[in-house]
Amino acid sequence: MSKVGKIVAADLYFRAVKKIFLPFHYLNYLLRAKTLHGTHSAFVYEFYQRVIEGDLQYYDFAPIEHLRAMLLQSDEVIQVVDFGAGAGGNRKAKDIAAKSSIPSKQGRLLFRLVNFMQPKVMLEMGTSLGISTLYQSKACPNANFTTMEGSPQTAQLAAKNFKLLKANNIKQVTGNFDETLPQVLKTFSSLDYVFFDGNHRKEPTLNYFKQCLPLASDNCVFVCDDIRWSDGMYQAWQEIIKEPSATVTIDLFSFGLVFFRKGQVKEHFTLKF
Ligand SMILES: C[S@@+](CC[C@H](N)C(=O)[O-])C[C@H]1O[C@@H](n2cnc3c(N)ncnc32)[C@H](O)[C@@H]1O
Repeated sequence: MSKVGKIVAADLYFRAVKKIFLPFHYLNYLLRAKTLHGTHSAFVYEFYQRVIEGDLQYYDFAPIEHLRAMLLQSDEVIQVVDFGAGAGGNRKAKDIAAKSSIPSKQGRLLFRLVNFMQPKVMLEMGTSLGISTLYQSKACPNANFTTMEGSPQTAQLAAKNFKLLKANNIKQVTGNFDETLPQVLKTFSSLDYVFFDGNHRKEPTLNYFKQCLPLASDNCVFVCDDIRWSDGMYQAWQEIIKEPSATVTIDLFSFGLVFFRKGQVKEHFTLKF
């Protein structure tokens, strides 16, 4: 079988497996997920109320969702470099927006999270068309925010979107994370926020996590997306939870949150979102 054939077959197999097993994962999550009343940590209590339950509508949401609606109708074709997910080649912007961009509910959560934490130095791995980047950028416009993407034409389209929405604090880095991440990390003395949303495989995820870890400040949060995207991603998440310096970890089903608050007893939460 050709390389493309193998990737397509693997993708089809994975989708079938996901369809069957994801409902079980979700049921398991629901059975374990607590609401605010089951939470005793003061920090997690406030976090739950303001970030997870918070439903304030910010002015910044509408333009981002308007941009998403435009992208979902766009027949513009760009050449996408494949990083192993089998989604390379010539693709329409509307297909990328539908398949890769963070859903609105999760985007709003990222906005509230960044708004709550007020990070000074932010990093995103996986820009795609920039929908998640915009939610995070608008929540903290004065932060130094770097977003990384491997596919050059995808990054160019994201750049147009940032210009359109006047998101001026975003620095883009283009190239394979394996090469660009070590270089990017050299430019920081510490990190307050990292969103891991690219290369959803166990080993690369753990590798990127370990590279960022020494730079995590006390006020830092790492957000891992798609922790149940595959068995490998879930295994990576289980290892991340064990990291001794990760004092508070929160499972929100698709997102895994990692806080590095000193003086806090190490505790893991599964919370309803
Ligand atoms: C799920 S999409 C990101 C979606 C985006 N965060 C959003 O919600 O709007 C993942 C992106 O990571 C990029 N990517 C995956 N593996 C990569 C790698 N090894 N190096 C650089 N970019 C990579 C892909 O090209 C893709 O655009």
